Amino acid sequence: MCHDEPDYSVEQRALIARLESDLRMQLAQKQHRLAHSLSVASCAEGLALLYGVDPFEARLAGILHDWEKALSGEKIIARARELEIDMGVDLELVAPLLHGIVAARELPSRYPEVPPEVWHAVEVHTTAASQMSPLDMVLFVADGIEPLRPKTPGIEESRSLVGEATLPDLFWESFVDGIIYVLKGSRYLWPGTIDTYNKLAAARKDSAAR
Ligand SMILES: [Fe+2]
Ligand SMILES: [Fe+2]
Repeated sequence: MCHDEPDYSVEQRALIARLESDLRMQLAQKQHRLAHSLSVASCAEGLALLYGVDPFEARLAGILHDWEKALSGEKIIARARELEIDMGVDLELVAPLLHGIVAARELPSRYPEVPPEVWHAVEVHTTAASQMSPLDMVLFVADGIEPLRPKTPGIEESRSLVGEATLPDLFWESFVDGIIYVLKGSRYLWPGTIDTYNKLAAARKDSAAR
């Protein structure tokens, strides 16, 4: 998705540059993850422009969302335990879901100038939530379809809907595709995801009936 960079202020440009430079250090050992993060940032910015969401916040969320992927699985679990993050199940089972939640707890004190909405989007980018703001949806979708991700039928379907479907429909497609990926791979499905699915499905049914 190609787009021109929005007309950011000098301060906004400076923050983007600082966060990108810090991310390069943070993910220096994980070049693939770094490239993915920058690609999500650009993709989220483009989706935001398309769907009337703040592109600056979307760009920041993309840059920051996988910050804690610098940590190994063991370390992220240890960090989540220190922060007393409660997922209702053994944290070993949900290790892939923890990095967004940990980042949303750890990073605001380091970057107080980043708006709280951005941290919320980072927090729910792995789990989704029953209440997703437009910014949350933009980050969630961008994470799933950024152009460096290899093609799968589900990702291709979501990509084809960009600009055609509404943002909630695009998010729904991406969310459900993520669940199918978990199921097809015989991976652990966190019960919180089933709960979120049921709540979102009921809300969709309600809004369709209106
Ligand atoms: Fe992530
Ligand atoms: Fe990601």
